[in-house]
Amino acid sequence: MQVGDPSPSDRSSVDTPMHAGVGQTVAKIILFGEHSVVYGYPAIAMPLRNLRMIARVEPTTRPSELSSLGWVGPLDEAPARFASIVRAVDAALEFAGHPNARLRIETHAEFPPERGLGSSAAAAGAVIRAVLNAFDVDVEPEDLFDLTQVAERIAHGHPSGLDATATSSQSPIHFQAGATTAVQINLSAWIVVADSGIHGSTRETVGHIREEHERCPEVTRPRLAELGRITAEAVDDVRAGDVSGLGQKMNDAHRLLAELGVSNARLDQLTAAARSAGAVGAKLTGGGRGGCVIALARTSADAKRIAAALGMAGATGTWVYAPHAYEVAA
Ligand code: MEV
Repeated sequence: MQVGDPSPSDRSSVDTPMHAGVGQTVAKIILFGEHSVVYGYPAIAMPLRNLRMIARVEPTTRPSELSSLGWVGPLDEAPARFASIVRAVDAALEFAGHPNARLRIETHAEFPPERGLGSSAAAAGAVIRAVLNAFDVDVEPEDLFDLTQVAERIAHGHPSGLDATATSSQSPIHFQAGATTAVQINLSAWIVVADSGIHGSTRETVGHIREEHERCPEVTRPRLAELGRITAEAVDDVRAGDVSGLGQKMNDAHRLLAELGVSNARLDQLTAAARSAGAVGAKLTGGGRGGCVIALARTSADAKRIAAALGMAGATGTWVYAPHAYEVAA
């Protein structure tokens, strides 16, 4: 069956799955290439496998119900912030051939929403997997991607597909124009992720750059191209283990993203605090104007000190990752 863009289904007639279903995805960070990836340039992203998004669905004879982020109620009455989950449910039910099925849907996230960690794509991906699991539908990775993109178009307007891919990936990825390859990170370094505590809207920041791109292409285009060039070179640094080169490129990428108008005072402060505490480089990650920053540390002791400094500077949460610990499938 083809993945389409189904119109909202009529949930009036009863059609229940045989059993409960479960689906899981994870958070992600973008190391390089947010925003420029929307214009066809490359990006490098890393799944955060310890920050899971789990969705469970079970059959019900009552009207379909959603429980997500503390909100519980009829799926048909879900607030606008859940529109992409509602779309994900509809798209998955259409794909399964049970458009009118009634389900109780529950999502559980181990990371906060609207922080550039991919929560909308992760939630859509987990719900789609749970629904298909409930109907024992075998599905190809390309179909899962297409279904998640149907929901992501509701969340972001024109998603590149990077979030849909990274939140279901096993290892760091290189992504460009829909094509994905695994990246081996040979880097003796640590990445500190820090939450600014501010909600960021990817739809808003992607929209802002699109408007600037139309209004002032002679200024916006070279900045996006420069981000693309930095990302392409960062791929070589990641493979070669050049920590200094990568840190400098993170600083440059943050400056360009700020010039594009998607940073804010808090993200600038946090990245500066990370550098003062010894980070080799730091940048915002994801849509921006809120959400998270990432900082590169040479040692695990440096990473701990940088995480503490970020906490002192107002970060509401920090996580430390060793990207070289990923095993990349051949
Ligand atoms: C958001 O996590 C990443 C963006 O590049 C948007 C996209 O790729 O669709 C800002």
